Amino acid sequence: MSSEVNVIKLGGSIITDKSKYYHIRYSEIVRIAKEISIAYSNCSSRIIIVHGGGSFGHPTVAEYQGVPDADAFSQVVYYMKELNSIIIDALKLFGVPAFSVDTHAIFYRDCNGVLQLFSKPLEEAIKKGAVPVLYGDAILSCNDFEVLSGDEIVWRLSYVFRPCRLLFAVDVNGVYDKHPSVPGARLLPVVSIRDVHHIDFGAQNRRVDVTGEMRSKLMLGARYWNSNIEEVLIFNGLKKDFIRASLCKEAVPGTKVTS
Ligand code: IPE
Repeated sequence: MSSEVNVIKLGGSIITDKSKYYHIRYSEIVRIAKEISIAYSNCSSRIIIVHGGGSFGHPTVAEYQGVPDADAFSQVVYYMKELNSIIIDALKLFGVPAFSVDTHAIFYRDCNGVLQLFSKPLEEAIKKGAVPVLYGDAILSCNDFEVLSGDEIVWRLSYVFRPCRLLFAVDVNGVYDKHPSVPGARLLPVVSIRDVHHIDFGAQNRRVDVTGEMRSKLMLGARYWNSNIEEVLIFNGLKKDFIRASLCKEAVPGTKVTS
């Protein structure tokens, strides 16, 4: 059993169908829960799960054109908690001691733009073998409300846990030198966060995404990089066994992100 904390982001596109509204990918969620359960028992109990908004969070935010008021905030939180319950149910079905941590209750953006976090419950949970499950959500900020992506949560958590591994399970094989839908796009086995400005991520596709997929994932990395981070991997979470293998520190094809 290893000592580092594994923070794994389940991209909204692997747990929901982002081309539809409020559409769960049940069979993927069950498979993922089973893989996490095996990893938890055999490799590491020190796991934090963060999942994305997928077809629950993004369309709700798009409908309200952001999180302009208390009504929108309440609606986004409501739908995200619905999605979160489904993830928790699946994990518990496979014996993972998962519990929901409401992102909007422990994160707050202060007036200097700093993402404040009450991390103590997470630290204690990890020590005791419980598996917190957070999610991209609407949060309160100094003057109003905003969307906090699961990606930013993952990078922010790297300040708390030393050492930590950040694992991003997405619906493509990793980071490409062009948008992966462009013919000839090449998968990059390693990307330095210093080079992300040179990558042509292309236009966003037709899916509703209010937080900006791969580009923002890496840009956030450039902002949050710190010495607690032991490894960052972006890989295809739809490929069978990749999530288990990543948690067990086995080689998984994808893109390693370096400083
Ligand atoms: C988005 O979180 C949260 C909301 C829209 C409320 P993410 O940006 O992490 O979600 P995915 O992974 O892209 O779906």
